[in-house]
Amino acid sequence: MSLHPPGEAAEHLALHGRFTRASRMGAGHINDTFLAEFEGAEPLVLQRVNSAVFPDPEGVMANIERVTDHLARRCPDERRALRLVRAKDGRAFWRDAAGELWRAYRCVEGTLVKDVVGGPWEAYEAARAFGAFQYLMSDLPGGPLEETLPGFHDTPGRLKAFEASVREDRAGRAAAAKAEIDAVFSRRAWAERLAAAARAGLVPVRVTHNDTKINNVLFDAASGKGLCVIDLDTVMPGLMLYDFGDFVRTAVSPAPEDEADLSRVQVRTEVFEALAQGWRDGSGGMISEEERALLPSAGRVIAYELGMRFLKDHLDGDRYFRVHRPNHNLERARCQLRLASEIFSREAELALYC
Ligand SMILES: Nc1ncnc2c1ncn2[C@@H]1O[C@H](COP(=O)(O)OP(=O)(O)OP(=O)(O)O)[C@@H](O)[C@H]1O
Ligand SMILES: [Mg+2]
Repeated sequence: MSLHPPGEAAEHLALHGRFTRASRMGAGHINDTFLAEFEGAEPLVLQRVNSAVFPDPEGVMANIERVTDHLARRCPDERRALRLVRAKDGRAFWRDAAGELWRAYRCVEGTLVKDVVGGPWEAYEAARAFGAFQYLMSDLPGGPLEETLPGFHDTPGRLKAFEASVREDRAGRAAAAKAEIDAVFSRRAWAERLAAAARAGLVPVRVTHNDTKINNVLFDAASGKGLCVIDLDTVMPGLMLYDFGDFVRTAVSPAPEDEADLSRVQVRTEVFEALAQGWRDGSGGMISEEERALLPSAGRVIAYELGMRFLKDHLDGDRYFRVHRPNHNLERARCQLRLASEIFSREAELALYC
């Protein structure tokens, strides 16, 4: 489908100024993002929401509206909290003629994003920003957010779905992936590690971001400090351990998510120490004792869950995650399962930093 011109969206979404031009921003893995410039008004970040990834984009926008309204109340510093700009008709988004949904945010100028965690300082800064986000959301009024991606971190549920895919073996790949399948099944107890605590009510359901990787934090270009959490498409009710665990998963190893050389998949303890410290500093003492006890395991569980999802998709014939080479999802699965094992073997040590 051809992309609807962002200029028309800008006309509907901007209250002031005359639209002059739009240029693409970011890598745009999910949404299409543009910087829209105006004569007589501040620039805006315009996004066309990916309707294939988000089955309920209006639910997504309802959540984002509540979260950004609350951020605006709680955090007067506009550079530290994403601000949604409402459309001329007062709604949180505008739909184009093709039915695609557009939204606008204030542009936080003088910022940059980082795609990899180079070292402890960056881990600290990003973790502090995510921790602060959770702290600011801790008194969100109006009841729980909508669960726009149901069961997103329901690890036991994911395991059941995985078992079904192994049985079905619709792409005929299960025999060749036996070692990885066995690795998932032999660690099935890991699926219960956070889920059991949640079921027993030992850890609270909070507002979670659900995409806590470093490139969803804007850094101040001048000071290098972490400023503002972006990419709120997946805000939902969940455990803080999901967000912490996903950040550990994406930050702690120097290797990318699909590293083929598994010897490069490692736990950088100094990065873990910094990110645990950053999260604590940002979240203002809200982490409970029960949550704290599970922090060392959170990255392991989330890496295990994602490893299982990659392997499931490989067995299903690569239907969900886009692949760039044969066996790409199998390699991703190996990498995540290795990371989960690496974290597991270091948890006693990691606990010293939590
Ligand atoms: N409010 C903002 N101010 C300045 N830049 C922004 C803002 N929001 C987004 N950006 C820029 O746009 C990029 C994409 O934003 P975002 O993460 O929301 O989109 P996405 O499609 O979910 O991206 P990805 O899938 O790559 O995470 C960011 O990396 C950042 O460079
Ligand atoms: Mg993003």
